[in-house]
Amino acid sequence: MIKVCAGKEHGCMRTETHHSAKSTGAAGLTAQWAKENPRSAALAARAAALLPGGVTHDVRLADPFPVAVARAAGSRKTDLDGHELICYVMGHGALLLGHSHPAVVAAVREQAGLAFHPGACHELESDWAEAVTRLVPSAERVRFTSSGTEASLLALRLARASTGRPAIVRLAGHFHGWHDQVATGADAPFDQPDTAGLPGGVGAAVRTIPAGQDALAAALAPGDVAAVIMEPSGAAWATVPLPDGFLAAARQLTAETGTLLVFDEVVSGFRWSPGGVQAVAGVQPDLTVLGKILAGGMPGGAVAGRAAVMDLVGGPAAGPRRVSHPGTHNAHPLSAAAGLATLGLASSGDVQDAAARLAAAAREELTGVFRRRGVPGRAYGESSTFHLLFGEHGPDELDLTALKAGLPPRLNAALHCGMLLEGVHLFHGSGFLSAAHTERDVAQTVTALDRTLARLQAEGLLTEGRPAGPVAPA
Ligand SMILES: Cc1ncc(COP(=O)(O)O)c(C=O)c1O
Repeated sequence: MIKVCAGKEHGCMRTETHHSAKSTGAAGLTAQWAKENPRSAALAARAAALLPGGVTHDVRLADPFPVAVARAAGSRKTDLDGHELICYVMGHGALLLGHSHPAVVAAVREQAGLAFHPGACHELESDWAEAVTRLVPSAERVRFTSSGTEASLLALRLARASTGRPAIVRLAGHFHGWHDQVATGADAPFDQPDTAGLPGGVGAAVRTIPAGQDALAAALAPGDVAAVIMEPSGAAWATVPLPDGFLAAARQLTAETGTLLVFDEVVSGFRWSPGGVQAVAGVQPDLTVLGKILAGGMPGGAVAGRAAVMDLVGGPAAGPRRVSHPGTHNAHPLSAAAGLATLGLASSGDVQDAAARLAAAAREELTGVFRRRGVPGRAYGESSTFHLLFGEHGPDELDLTALKAGLPPRLNAALHCGMLLEGVHLFHGSGFLSAAHTERDVAQTVTALDRTLARLQAEGLLTEGRPAGPVAPA
């Protein structure tokens, strides 16, 4: 049995040694966290022999080892060692309503009793598509996939088929999943592949340009570009904001050159507003790539867009430009059930507005912690998200490479472990809020950052490296 700390003022559920170790400063943050998490450590050791790297998503690799979670509800989760954590990972941004929202759980349970996979058309897929077309301004038709990666792959295939053109233009630093065509350009150096194992020649069809009107105009000038794909929030959910007016300029330039405009709203869809960034910005793409909140925490993705383009995936009637798209789990009924329940509760915009208001307050208060501690840095971000940025400079003074660089590894690990020790699970120095987060959660997070910065100062970690920001492919 784990004895918990009674540090109620910050909702602490940790072992008794937690505060005394902290006050003596005897253990480094990572060492202390490792000591207090023996079950996560044991699972990490077991997983290392079974799962390459001991994880199932690159983003979960962590020093000294990843935290493992037993259960979650609302804004909080409980790790294997019994610590309660305020969750800012929130299913990599999928859980707008919080963990295991009762309405979503009930919808999934009901559908599980009816049919997991009928191997046939079902009502929920049309209900789900109706919800998407109602909420997303540019969506006339919807094709469901099993992930955001699959949706981005399908969007590019549709764009090539529709225009008959070979090339794709993407923006440096923007993330569109892990398929080969988008595996160059998300991370620095932006002209080099982000992974080994790519087939030769794939890079020739996809050009990476900086996010700027002039670069886009030059890239589209030859007239061979099928589509421009971008995160309309700016790279990595507004870690790197776009230049003012860029979305409208991109719409105009693509329209003038017969190029399709593809918005990847896998993160921003249903979060920035019920209709995503496009509804806020008043700029309609030809195709939208969706995922995460779309499926309410279950696996899922979709391409939505103009009927004339989308109907190419509609079978032989599309003729020689027909796009093929099989997929065993497309529009999986359990994903449809979770997605429908989520979109139903998120359709008025109240949920998004409340989470965004709380996130704005959190950003302000977290920035205040940096100021009071005399640590150069701040929290910034948009909608219901935040990014912690260490260093003198703000996001508008830093370039793409600096903003996407991430913290020096030792500082990153210590920040992560320090916040976990205080009961807060950050997502690589960033966070997603949900409808379930409360002012109490934010207050506890502010205290957690204050204490963690003090310990980082004491450990001499805040003098290391240069200004840097979060890493955030979700
Ligand atoms: C903007 C964006 N596009 C696409 C994807 C890929 O989605 P998935 O992880 O569901 O394949 C992600 C995942 O984080 C994303 O952030």
